[in-house]
Amino acid sequence: MAFGLDRRGVLAGALALAACDRRAGAQAAPVDLPPLRTLAQFAIGAAVQAAQLDDPDLGPLIAAQASQLTAEWEMKMEYILQDDGAYRFDAGDRIAAFARANGQRLFGHTLVWFDQRPAAFVALDESRISFEAAYRNYIAAVVGRYRDIAVGWDVVNEAVGEQGEGLRKSLWSDKLGDIKHMVIAFQAARQADPAAILFLNDYNLESLPAKRKAFLKLAEQLLAEGAPLGGLGTQSHLTADLARGAYGAHLRDLASLGLPIHVSELDVSQTRAPLHLIDPGGVRAAQSRLYAEVAEAFSALPAPQRFGLTLWGLRDKDSWLRRENAADAPCLFDDQGRPKPAAGAFANGLR
Ligand code: G3I
Repeated sequence: MAFGLDRRGVLAGALALAACDRRAGAQAAPVDLPPLRTLAQFAIGAAVQAAQLDDPDLGPLIAAQASQLTAEWEMKMEYILQDDGAYRFDAGDRIAAFARANGQRLFGHTLVWFDQRPAAFVALDESRISFEAAYRNYIAAVVGRYRDIAVGWDVVNEAVGEQGEGLRKSLWSDKLGDIKHMVIAFQAARQADPAAILFLNDYNLESLPAKRKAFLKLAEQLLAEGAPLGGLGTQSHLTADLARGAYGAHLRDLASLGLPIHVSELDVSQTRAPLHLIDPGGVRAAQSRLYAEVAEAFSALPAPQRFGLTLWGLRDKDSWLRRENAADAPCLFDDQGRPKPAAGAFANGLR
């Protein structure tokens, strides 16, 4: 009997070796790994910033590992919409060009978000143009610009209350209505790009069942109102100590509507796990296990519902979570861009 190890065997072996090291502060040994985009039957995305694409180390890593790109912030109103109402597309265009050059899909993030209150809308001269017309014009301009490369959009981001209590209030809901502002946004996006899959996106859906229930209820309400909702995005900013099985259960629940699912912003914080300071090696192992569960659970979805799985940054050093805690290591690749044991566990879970 041949004793040659197949890919899974090699990965499992590397994992076991690397996970043995539980000393505090010790960096787990990197593993040897084929590019993630070659291992999955679905899109593997990465959140990027335009400047990263010209970085001699990070640019090639993004090109090699990802088959889909999301602008981390440069396709949001905060970047595009200037105070005088002018649009700034240079960064989005750079990201789109990189995607075209590297055979990658572009995912648009995000059109309408409670977090964004651009001066151009707050101080809009409504004697010149109605708020709704300006809102529709913005969506049409942004979605229309990238319709050749964008496969989908987060049309509405984080609309459900923090704990699942009702819908968030925003400039958009105040001006156009709690549900109506969302229906208008989906319809305007559809008009600008007949082919893009249009998503509702939110976070903590895996850890707050009440929020997940409210999210699904909102999705059904939007569909009932005629919004061309085409997919559900679960951001998945996870903490390494998430209970075993919780992630898979949440994914199956979201998939019950029958729509495509986008794991849209995956990272697994080590430092947000209470045990981090007491048992850092144990938290690293828990992170690997959770990344594997995400990959396995998403791979197990029906193929038509596997829109894509996006990593919110490839390297630890680039993560937004580093701004909260410089010791966090939430990504699959270390500061030098080397695959961590978590990357091996994640790869092993892909089907
Ligand atoms: O790069 C500029 C820098 O040149 C400038 O000096 C500095 C101060 O103005 O801003 C820097 O840009 C910041 C950018 O991150 C890059 O670091 C923006 O101000 C800042 O707003 C932006 O934050 C992003 C945030 O969304 C708000 O857009 C984060 O990178 C991004 O990770 C975060 O992502 C969100 C998702 O969109 C929605 N889900 C939650 C997730 C995490 O908060």
